[in-house]
Amino acid sequence: MKHTLPPTRAVTKAVIPAAGLGTRFLPATKATPKEMLPVVDKPAIQYVVEETATAGLTDVLMITGRNKRALEDHFDRNFELEQALIKKGDKQRLAKVRASNDLTTMHYVRQGDPRGLGHAVLCAAPHVGAQPFAVLLGDDLIDPRDPLLSRMLDVHEHEGGSVVALMETEPSQIHLYGCAAVQNTADPDVVKVTGLVEKPDPAEAPSNYAIIGRYVLDPAVFEVLRETAPGRGGEIQLTDALQKLAADEKTGGPVHGVVFKGRRYDTGDRVDYLRAIVQLACEREDLGPEFRNWLVRHVAETVPSGIA
Ligand code: UTP
Repeated sequence: MKHTLPPTRAVTKAVIPAAGLGTRFLPATKATPKEMLPVVDKPAIQYVVEETATAGLTDVLMITGRNKRALEDHFDRNFELEQALIKKGDKQRLAKVRASNDLTTMHYVRQGDPRGLGHAVLCAAPHVGAQPFAVLLGDDLIDPRDPLLSRMLDVHEHEGGSVVALMETEPSQIHLYGCAAVQNTADPDVVKVTGLVEKPDPAEAPSNYAIIGRYVLDPAVFEVLRETAPGRGGEIQLTDALQKLAADEKTGGPVHGVVFKGRRYDTGDRVDYLRAIVQLACEREDLGPEFRNWLVRHVAETVPSGIA
């Protein structure tokens, strides 16, 4: 996929944590990274790397771990496969194979033990240095037609500090996410974050704003992460570090939130993963017409009348 004229940005580096165990997808993830599961015919992680290129970021560091070699192989040349396709004269498939190599400059570092998202981000410190940087979770797919990261980079250029992505959720679902206490700003899609709490009980949640997997972070977050003790689930939580940045503007704050209303799929969750595939397949020019016809027939045959 070619990306034309991406904007030149002050932020150039993206970090993609992809070292989690993916236990919700076992047994598929026993030997295969969950980020490599296909969404239609492309691994979930490729959508995420394409998003960095579209937003104008030029350097991607992926945080990987054991059983994650397939991630590196996917963004590298596959000489034998390319030669076989060249021999057959199959230019279309050759372009598909090569597309993932040409997206951006990729770097990799291993997390060792998956000690939480905060720990995964801390593994990026030597590569990132003292510059602000973006973080994109490797299993969080934002529909390419709904640009979120570009908007977050714009807000960062204007406000400084750190920027998180927020999505309004059902109150009953907030315990699955980090949750933000917010104040409105003059921009309808931007809020100031005054506090953050990881996976709160619905009764204690400060709002219905859930943090989703895109961040633009001030490098001060590294120092805070070094001092952050394991939190919920015994893991070093990025949300806990961001709470400290939000509470003390002198060390890397303020923290703003961009309220996202577009299409987003958590491909690490089985139902959301299925939704992503059905929705994106229905909308594809090559597959959509045939798949939609089948889906309509299938729903008519299998869903008893009167039940939605
Ligand atoms: P998840 O909360 O989805 O955890 O991590 P997980 O372990 O991958 O999945 P389950 O819950 O066991 O099914 C969110 C993101 O943070 C990364 C994951 O790879 C995912 O992209 N992560 C998480 C790390 O890189 N390292 C960690 O220690 C934890």
